[in-house]
Amino acid sequence: MSASSYASIPLVKGLPLVGNLPKFLRDPLANAESLAVHGNVVRSRTFFESVTLLGPDANQFVLHDSAGNFSNRGGWRYWIDAVFPGAIMAMDDPQHKHHRRIMQGAFKRPAMERYVHDMGPVIGVELDSWPAGTGRPMPVFPRLKSLTLNIAARVFMGMALGQEADRMNQAFIDTVNASLALVRRPLPPLSMWRGVRARRFLVRLMQAKLADKRASIGPDLFSQMCHAHGEDGERFSDDEVVNHMIFLMMAAHDTTTSALTTMLYCLARHPQWQERLRDEAHALAKPQLQLADLADLERTEWVMKEALRMYPPLTSIPRKAARDCEFGGYQIPKGTPVGISPIHTHHLPSLWTDPHAFDPERFSPARAEHRRHAFAYLPFGGGAHLCIGQHFADMEVKSVMHQLLRRFRFSVPAGYRMPYQLVPIAKPRDGLPILLQAL
Ligand code: HEM
Repeated sequence: MSASSYASIPLVKGLPLVGNLPKFLRDPLANAESLAVHGNVVRSRTFFESVTLLGPDANQFVLHDSAGNFSNRGGWRYWIDAVFPGAIMAMDDPQHKHHRRIMQGAFKRPAMERYVHDMGPVIGVELDSWPAGTGRPMPVFPRLKSLTLNIAARVFMGMALGQEADRMNQAFIDTVNASLALVRRPLPPLSMWRGVRARRFLVRLMQAKLADKRASIGPDLFSQMCHAHGEDGERFSDDEVVNHMIFLMMAAHDTTTSALTTMLYCLARHPQWQERLRDEAHALAKPQLQLADLADLERTEWVMKEALRMYPPLTSIPRKAARDCEFGGYQIPKGTPVGISPIHTHHLPSLWTDPHAFDPERFSPARAEHRRHAFAYLPFGGGAHLCIGQHFADMEVKSVMHQLLRRFRFSVPAGYRMPYQLVPIAKPRDGLPILLQAL
């Protein structure tokens, strides 16, 4: 049977002029669920008309993409080209394969051991300044944001904390804000204008450090990127290193902050799990984690996975059809913007028991609900563009949690529910006020 035409794909019109945009921005899960009423292939308009493909088979079709049906460049360029030119996430093959092979060199085990080793003291210094026992709730989101920026300054750039790191962190925040700006032209004083200026600053900063980083291999990611090479000895040029570094900092920052925030929220609401994780942290009997310790943190792993299932930092993933293809009985012509929705798949009752409940044990070997389909669980995406920093994020989140749990007990008032925005990246609207008690 031949596939039905593009025009016959169900169209959800949404509101006049703005379409589904307000609903998507307010609640991407509810938006995807309202599309799913019409099937697993649905047209709608958010920023422009696109086709949403829903469910684990759709995720596999788009991300696994052995037929080369989809373009990352087409999906992402609108969002990232202005302030993150040359980003690997917006590359297609063969360029993507070439860059990915080299970049992988900076994420090998010996390098990872150094990164985790070097982030421990930064976390310790930062947590020293957290006010415990004041009896007043502290908005923890800005604290976590500053912590992940300082970790990046140290581990990505090899910088000591101080004025230079502070200036870089601010430039960095400006570029990230610009990538998410609704007005895409650099008009003063709007965020795209600030972002373009901040990018220039970051480029100059990195260029000034390049010769030094090239001269000898240091433990930081910047230096590792300068010396990374593929199997045939291919390396990045200076401009490529700079572009990749600026993008890596962006890809790592808000996502990891989001993961830490939602994990902390889940633990604050579920003190029995907090105690279990604290026991696990004390059982290690080490103030700071090393890479080899990660395997011993089984329950911490389940809780991190569950936080990322419920609140995936990237709720949807965009692509553009690079050729005519078919899915779910419909034709998708070349050039069609296509999106998949991890947050929707993460809440499907056909895959997950009581999907809205916080239940970390669903990831235990006995239940392994995430294994019910190869593309049931995808906070880090999948296929050729699978997050290259997945293990980095894992060790950063667990390192922070390890130290936090050993120092503080944290709580939210009974009945508190974090008001959060999920787009563009999951974060609390109220900064997530928590009460800290020193141990
Ligand atoms: C909890 C934290 C993180 C989450 C949830 C996350 C999520 C994702 C997702 C969903 C993608 C795939 C995008 C797509 O297919 O279009 C991705 C790609 C990427 N991520 Fe992450 N990420 C996280 C942390 C990090 C960190 C720490 C780094 C760097 C150290 C990083 C670097 C990248 C890069 C470079 C890509 C593009 C890979 C490629 O195109 O080949 N991410 N991330």
